[in-house]
Amino acid sequence: MNNETSPDRGVALAVEDLCKSFPNGSERLHVLTGINLTVRSGEVVSITGESGSGKSTLLGLIAGLDLPDSGAIHVGDKRVEQLGEQQLTRYRALTVGLIFQFHYLLRDFTTLENVMLPALMQNRRRRDVQERAEGLLAQVGLQDRLQHLPPQLSGGERQRVAAARALINDPMLILADEPTGNLDDRNSRVVEDTLLALASEFGKTLLVVTHNPALAERAGRTLFLERGCLVTT
Ligand SMILES: Nc1ncnc2c1ncn2[C@@H]1O[C@H](COP(=O)(O)OP(=O)(O)O)[C@@H](O)[C@H]1O
Ligand SMILES: [Mg+2]
Repeated sequence: MNNETSPDRGVALAVEDLCKSFPNGSERLHVLTGINLTVRSGEVVSITGESGSGKSTLLGLIAGLDLPDSGAIHVGDKRVEQLGEQQLTRYRALTVGLIFQFHYLLRDFTTLENVMLPALMQNRRRRDVQERAEGLLAQVGLQDRLQHLPPQLSGGERQRVAAARALINDPMLILADEPTGNLDDRNSRVVEDTLLALASEFGKTLLVVTHNPALAERAGRTLFLERGCLVTT
């Protein structure tokens, strides 16, 4: 694929020859040494790999949270690594939805407010945002928890709120970094079901880093990050 052309329409994400290193004393730690990945629109892909293999680094680059040393990241018609600061802010807010191992909900805001916030920050109409947030919270089975504060929710419920929040601005790509990493088996299952159902219901592309074999198994495709490269398992 030529760097000047954008990928074809059915492709949500295309990563080409992506490299990333970090300073490590007087040397550099080469974490990603040539990542190539194409994910079609609506596809669910899971990534596994040992701790420290670079999974979060890869997701962070795709999310536009950090810059690669070299390589290209196409998301839709955007070249993520070439976006300017303002475009990046928009990209992070509107094009990708992020879910982490830790929920990052604001503890003094209700469930409903937490889900609404990213859309209110885009100056969307409050009434529309609330309607959409309530719909998403119903979708993740939390229609009876709208006024709860995060500390009043179970770990699994908090992750389902985080999933609803990730969807509020209707991103084309959902990036989830060990979303069930802190949960017991039963809650993991519920959060996985929720994520997969959300992706399927809204036709979203989902890239999920997981140590959970059950989730990896339920993805359309599982890749393994090893010595800086992605390999098919
Ligand atoms: N900002 C950073 N500065 C230096 N080293 C980092 C930084 N971020 C990650 N690393 C290192 O890069 C490697 C990969 O980290 P990470 O992507 O978090 O792995 P994983 O998510 O697969 O556990 C680790 O060795 C980690 O210590
Ligand atoms: Mg990680």
